[in-house]
Amino acid sequence: MGAESGGIKPPRQLLDRWGRVAKDLRISVTDRCNLRCSYCLPEDADTWIPRQDLLTPREFGRLAQVALSLGIRKVRLTGGEPLLRPDLEEIIRKIRQAFIEADLPAEIALTTNAIGLATRIDSLVEAGLGRINISLDTLDPDRYFALAKRDRFSEVAAALEKLPGSGLDPVKLNSVILDQKSLEELPDLVRFALRRGFQWRAIEFMPIGPLGGSAAVRPHASDIFRRLQECFTLTSIETDPAAPARRWNVAAGSDYPAGIIGVIASESAPFCASCDRTRLSANGRVYSCLFSLSFVDLLAPLRQGASNEELAQLWLSAQAAKPAGHTEITAERRTYSLSQIGG
Ligand code: GTP
Ligand code: 5AD
Ligand code: SF4
Repeated sequence: MGAESGGIKPPRQLLDRWGRVAKDLRISVTDRCNLRCSYCLPEDADTWIPRQDLLTPREFGRLAQVALSLGIRKVRLTGGEPLLRPDLEEIIRKIRQAFIEADLPAEIALTTNAIGLATRIDSLVEAGLGRINISLDTLDPDRYFALAKRDRFSEVAAALEKLPGSGLDPVKLNSVILDQKSLEELPDLVRFALRRGFQWRAIEFMPIGPLGGSAAVRPHASDIFRRLQECFTLTSIETDPAAPARRWNVAAGSDYPAGIIGVIASESAPFCASCDRTRLSANGRVYSCLFSLSFVDLLAPLRQGASNEELAQLWLSAQAAKPAGHTEITAERRTYSLSQIGG
């Protein structure tokens, strides 16, 4: 680090050229998945990060130290499917350790499809996991199979029944609204979530990944909102501008309690202008934006013995180049899936 004047170091932050500061780190721990959701992974996907390039728990811990020194205050683990890593608990422990060493409250969350979660909830909580978001587009096992191409619904359902009271709070269900059928099922998904004390969020389809180039007309956030209003009594909740979801309180009904729902309108109301995210891929690349194809590699320097300070400088340079937003999405980026950079 350069010479310090007066002994007080100004706090360093991951600032980009548009003035946004990243505080939220999303780490993809694997690009592999046990499902093949049509909008995310093609059935014949066969190009994966080589195993020797996957960061180890220790390496994730090291990079978490660097990120926390740069002002990161929340870490979310994503994939692919993070539970495919048998050492996920160890990854969480190492990241928690980094929070403890930095004298910061550990804020560690997970986004998962919940396959295999039922038997790991306790070990994940014990390792330091605080919050969980579950991707679930339907409650109908046949539609689940049609969308995800794998017959795993019963495993997801088993995990969902174990989550209330597990210590993970909040639990959020994320449902991508793909078509008319998704809109029809939306009230069932909301009631299912509220009955278990979960929040529920509709995700507007983003035209990236295998269906990115399809001409199909997808429901818009306004269609989703209209359907929600038809079925529920909603009161808007003041939302943090950096959060992707617009949220509402739902009044209790005759057979479900009150709760919270949201809509993530990445396409029709992008939150890029106030985005506070930076991303680390499973092979140690920093992406400043979900839609960016450019990255800064930390894997090689890390394995060649770079110091935390050298890694921090690389991370700062990656974030400085963050694009303004959707306007800069290239046609090439549209063909990439969230499983590759991290959802
Ligand atoms: P919370 O901390 O619970 O608010 O999590 P989150 O909503 O940030 O995370 P989650 O993994 O649940 O993401 C939900 C959805 O938001 C994803 O499936 C994407 O559709 C969308 N999303 C996540 N990150 C980004 C991003 O950086 N840009 C855009 N445009 N959409 C994103
Ligand atoms: N549009 C919206 N959400 C997507 N996801 C994956 N691909 C898309 C897309 N094209 C979401 C899934 C899940 C997470 C892994 O990413 O719903 O919540
Ligand atoms: Fe896997 Fe999630 Fe992509 Fe589905 S959306 S294929 S569960 S990473």
